[in-house]
Amino acid sequence: MNIAVIGTGYVGLVSGVCYAELGNHVICVDNDPRKIDMLNDGEIPIYEPGLKELAATNREEGRLAFTADLSSAVIHSDIIILAVGTPPLPNGEANLDYINQAAIEVAEAMNSYKIITVKSTVPVGTNERLAQLIRLHTNKPFDSISLPEFLREGSAIQDTLKPDRIIIGAECQRAAAIMVELHKPLTENIVVTDIRSAEMIKYASNAFLATKISFINEIANICEKVGADVTQVADGMGYDKRIGPSFLKAGIGYGGSCFPKDTSALIQIAGNVDYEFKLLRSVVEVNQDQRFNVIRKLKTVFDGELQGKVVAIWGLAFKPNTDDVRDSPALEIIQYLVDHGVIVKAYDPVALHSFQSLFGIGDVIWCNEALETAQDADALCLLTEWEEFASVDLLELQKVLKQPILIDGRNVFKEEDLIDTDFIYYSVGRPNLNQGVKQKVPVL
Ligand code: UDX
Repeated sequence: MNIAVIGTGYVGLVSGVCYAELGNHVICVDNDPRKIDMLNDGEIPIYEPGLKELAATNREEGRLAFTADLSSAVIHSDIIILAVGTPPLPNGEANLDYINQAAIEVAEAMNSYKIITVKSTVPVGTNERLAQLIRLHTNKPFDSISLPEFLREGSAIQDTLKPDRIIIGAECQRAAAIMVELHKPLTENIVVTDIRSAEMIKYASNAFLATKISFINEIANICEKVGADVTQVADGMGYDKRIGPSFLKAGIGYGGSCFPKDTSALIQIAGNVDYEFKLLRSVVEVNQDQRFNVIRKLKTVFDGELQGKVVAIWGLAFKPNTDDVRDSPALEIIQYLVDHGVIVKAYDPVALHSFQSLFGIGDVIWCNEALETAQDADALCLLTEWEEFASVDLLELQKVLKQPILIDGRNVFKEEDLIDTDFIYYSVGRPNLNQGVKQKVPVL
């Protein structure tokens, strides 16, 4: 099939490359000519394992192209996929300006029947509204499809080529059948539903996953008080098929471009129809607070006095294997420390540059290597569970730190890793692993 993907952000780029990999002809469009030049030079503007190689192969084999010329891409395609950003407005609602603009430009370029598909996450009812907008700008026939995206950064290709399910929201059976055909090689689990339900499935799924994370984080906080181990609790819970083992890792809370944005948007969507989504509000509140557990633990070991301390931070990305720092808990943790007179040294294997661009370079000592970051620090906080940190030599680490204080925000280290060390160690919801501080129970 001939496909145009509008927007070369995460979703657009990964989807475009993967549709090409399935044997379709794909043109990816972006209105930023620098991005298009970069892509045409074989560079990928985001960090996503395997994407660069897959894009290169598909370009070489003539199935994938990049252009800033939206009209010609639309003219040469039967399926148009809108994958532009819907970033949050200050009130939590999704900003639909980019998708509205893209829809108008597509409409103005249309030369024949098209299937217009929305992959961007949009509030319930948006697809219908976009269809009306398109109708105002063209008299050519088209059908609308809602095709929510569930890929995770860091495993985006795997998630796209082997998804758990494909959701197709459609009003027209013929268009739905074409979309089913397109996605058949990926999975047997294709759910065809109405457009509004498809839009809702995306928000409900992300809200549910966010709920699981906040739930286990609260269980972790209780574990710290009652002497249980949250990793054991999650393991025991996960065998129940109704619960399942995934998304039960306690830590410093979720971040990234989706969960924070989609949970706020769903609270707004409910609010707009006079429904208060109380459960989801609590999920967001718990998540917001969870990152400060790291600070509370630091305060416990320093008897409340943070001023003048040197604190090393390992991990800035909102999760490993990505350079994405959007809504990363590290942002607020570091800001708090800086505001309270702490000298912060920070390192991330990949996300240093994206973090600096959000944070400003002045206030923090940015480092290029893990042990160098820890050198002469009064404490080390691990905020992102990169593999590199898990395999560090802890005795070596202990030597370079001024004080062997380790706050593990992601439960990276196990009991056997710590056994021969003298660390003052805190993790999340595993009080029995606390070392050197058994008498000091952090105030949560
Ligand atoms: C998420 C959804 O998984 C994906 O389906 C949707 O399309 C986009 O949002 P992503 O944001 O890439 O994907 O990351 P994900 O791997 O889901 O992790 C989200 C956040 O939750 C991360 O900050 C991660 O550290 C945190 N998390 C995840 C936990 O704290 N505990 C867990 O058990 C799982």
